[in-house]
Amino acid sequence: MKNFNITLLAGDGTGPEVINEAVKVLQKTQAKYGINFNFTENNLGGERYLKSKELVTKKDIQELGSSDSILLGAIGHPDVKPGILEQGILLKLRKEFDQYINLRPVVLYPGVETPLANKKPEDINFTVVRENTEGLYAGAGGFVHYGTESEVATQESINTYKAIHRCILYAFEYAKDNNRKKVTLCAKTNVLTYAHDLWERIFYDIAKDYPEIETDYAHVDAVCMWMVKNPEWFDVIVTDNMFGDIITDLGAMIQGGMGIAAGGNINPEGVSMFEPIGGSAPKYTGKNVINPLASIAAASMMVTQLGEVEYGKEIENAIITTAQKLDSLSAGKMGLSTSEVGDTVLESMQTK
Ligand code: IPM
Ligand code: MN
Repeated sequence: MKNFNITLLAGDGTGPEVINEAVKVLQKTQAKYGINFNFTENNLGGERYLKSKELVTKKDIQELGSSDSILLGAIGHPDVKPGILEQGILLKLRKEFDQYINLRPVVLYPGVETPLANKKPEDINFTVVRENTEGLYAGAGGFVHYGTESEVATQESINTYKAIHRCILYAFEYAKDNNRKKVTLCAKTNVLTYAHDLWERIFYDIAKDYPEIETDYAHVDAVCMWMVKNPEWFDVIVTDNMFGDIITDLGAMIQGGMGIAAGGNINPEGVSMFEPIGGSAPKYTGKNVINPLASIAAASMMVTQLGEVEYGKEIENAIITTAQKLDSLSAGKMGLSTSEVGDTVLESMQTK
């Protein structure tokens, strides 16, 4: 019996509802793989912040840091000023645990509607590897003459050899391990002539060690065009923090929306954190109408990262089968409730 300690950060809004379904699926299927998940709940999030003004405490770090992995529901609260929870919790945890990769598969499952006309599952199947610790999201910068007409605000893009190198290396290793043929660097070398020059040099340097993998380069604006016009051109895309943030929302839309899109904040040598990327959806909270497939997909990615590749695949296949049975992937329009979707996933998995 293998034991995995998982911290659940159910968080805010619909987070607890979707986490429930992911946990239900894991609990009912773990035995078949000789696994025992020990789940610990942690209540950090917007709700707790409003009550106690606590963001991430030392105790949280200790608890999360001693687990094998973290499964996150959603962090976000309509009564908290934008920026506080994002910086204070999400970005903080990514940095604290050095989760230097943000991995976002963009896959159109059969039977799922994409807004792209005439595009089929074989056309939309790529993975974005986003640098997750620095760039414009590093938090470097400040104000001078705050609140006056002389005010200056700076936000610096931090690009270190170390972070770029480990990110691009991960992308090539990911491509190799997952039988992907091509890695595309998405940057803006024609304008960010220092930062992305460094990215480009490291990219082609690492590529030399992977002669079997094709390389490609595209400016970020062109990537946006092609993700819509020719998504079949992409296989693995590696990019910096901000561009990765933007293009993965576009990616989520072309794969059928927030109901299905999941991602992982990964530290391959440490504690990773997996999440549905849809957010806390206050409008749908407590109604049993939110789609839990994204959170179940996050669980599938987590299991894979823990080394249980077959298990991860079985969950993914069950998601594919279930997605075909839903009227729509959108909250409230699925034709099934949140918990019924979880049940449907379980029906197409062997529970013993
Ligand atoms: C995401 C989110 C976060 C990010 C925010 C909430 C800080 O948009 O995970 O993509 O920008 O990374
Ligand atoms: Mn984002």
